[in-house]
Amino acid sequence: MTLESEIARRRTFAIISHPDAGKTTLTEKLLLFGGAIQLAGAVKARGDARRAHSDWMKVERERGISVTASVMSFGYDGHMFNLLDTPGHEDFSEDTYRTLTAVDSAVMVIDAAKGIEAQTRKLFEVCRLRDMPIATFVNKLDREGRDPFDLIDEIEQGLALDVSPVTWPIGMGRNFLGVYDLRRDRLLLVDRKSDKVADGEVCQGVDDPKIDRLLPADAAAKLREDVEMVRELCPQFDLQAYREGTMTPVFFGSAINNFGVRELLAGIGELAPPPRVQASVERKVTPDEPRASGFVFKIQANMDPKHRDRIAFFRLCSGRFRRGMKMLHVRTGKTMTIHNPVLFLARDRELAEEAWPGDIIGIPNHGSLRIGDSLTEGESLRFTGIPSFAPEHLQTVRPEDPMKAKHLGRALEQLAEEGAARVFKPVVGSEWIVGVVGVLQFDVLADRIRTEYEIPVRFEPTSLHTARWVEAEDPRLLKKFIDANTANMAEDHSGAPVFLARNAWRLDKAQEDWPGVRFLKTKEQAW
Ligand code: G4P
Repeated sequence: MTLESEIARRRTFAIISHPDAGKTTLTEKLLLFGGAIQLAGAVKARGDARRAHSDWMKVERERGISVTASVMSFGYDGHMFNLLDTPGHEDFSEDTYRTLTAVDSAVMVIDAAKGIEAQTRKLFEVCRLRDMPIATFVNKLDREGRDPFDLIDEIEQGLALDVSPVTWPIGMGRNFLGVYDLRRDRLLLVDRKSDKVADGEVCQGVDDPKIDRLLPADAAAKLREDVEMVRELCPQFDLQAYREGTMTPVFFGSAINNFGVRELLAGIGELAPPPRVQASVERKVTPDEPRASGFVFKIQANMDPKHRDRIAFFRLCSGRFRRGMKMLHVRTGKTMTIHNPVLFLARDRELAEEAWPGDIIGIPNHGSLRIGDSLTEGESLRFTGIPSFAPEHLQTVRPEDPMKAKHLGRALEQLAEEGAARVFKPVVGSEWIVGVVGVLQFDVLADRIRTEYEIPVRFEPTSLHTARWVEAEDPRLLKKFIDANTANMAEDHSGAPVFLARNAWRLDKAQEDWPGVRFLKTKEQAW
């Protein structure tokens, strides 16, 4: 195994969709192809891997850590896929955004009856900010949906993307017969009697008489007409345009029937980019550099309230990682030995003996690792691009028992480090202000503080409108600004200054009055 070949076969991606479009179903079917789960959902035993796996389970039991299936790694057809779950379906959270910073491409799932929906659009915008390649899977063709040309038009107009169908559906709903593979001239037919996936019939173009034997006359005629129109109206697939994020290849299928899923997976393997070059403050880091480096994009707290262990999700950006490796924790300058890195295999996990660029490993720790942290084999690199978002909702939090104020402060700091919320300590006053992206997060936090830290708390609305991190080239100007606005200033958990605005007008006014100060909605977490 060489670094180059391991990089070349890796595909790290996420699925974005609106709730109910079929993300969970598609994920399951993809894992099925990868052999990562068996039909019954049981996990395959794999000799040594099995042993490593049970070792990990012991660690997990002892420490009381439980990790949900945030990352699923599986192999198929020579490729290694790392599928990252984008959490927060209903409760849109920062985790969702950050997960997208750790992938190289995305698959957008669309319900054929509904087209582009609100959440799909929101997630798409996040991908677009990074020019991320996006493949589209139009799902639920086994139900009556919208006309495929109509859907293509909507993607093109609504998302300002060039659209190039890779497969084309034959019929829909009860009359859904299969798809025609436009790139390989193959006919793939739905087999309603078995859930086996056939290899498809190779055709000599759409005029092949074979098609007339395999399809009813009206379906064959419609297919020929459609294919002619597609080839006339839609641009040909252009790998470079896709990889630059301006063109999306579209696959049609029915996840629940396992139809079209293999073509999608093969498509990702063939077309989606391998691990990318990653920007850092110091320089660009290419995956084939021999020295290992990467960043933490997510922290998951343990589920057991008695323990303080956490799992840091670490994306390897370069080099070969080996278990037991000593790595420089760039923010603190300390060396960490990574004894128990975890690989995530479907719903299972095992100790990672090694990992390659694009892979995600879980690093158990007691709170030393934070979101945005870089770990390297010695070089002082600070990876950029992991955003911290200005919260859209701000509330004060108080302990029911005033004697517990100090404890609450510590709990909040830990939650902030984990990335579960923003916590601001106003310069004036003794209250804590907590900011979140989705309002449901307040309930989740109150519950966690009560159960994990045994501090019953109350969240109360504030009159605050929004928060902005403030920066200035000239430190004296920043100090002047802070001094002039003490009543509206706070610090986040890392001590960075934050301006708390009571309303939109005040924010505008402050921006107008202080042209040399930058008011930031997102703060890059790089130390
Ligand atoms: P999500 O993760 O994006 O929220 O979607 P999920 O996979 O949970 O699918 C949402 C619903 O759509 C589920 O139905 C699922 O069975 C159905 N579904 C997914 N793919 C297809 C498909 O290709 N065709 C059809 N007809 N339905 C599909 P549900 O009724 O909410 O749940 P369940 O009772 O089926 O579990």
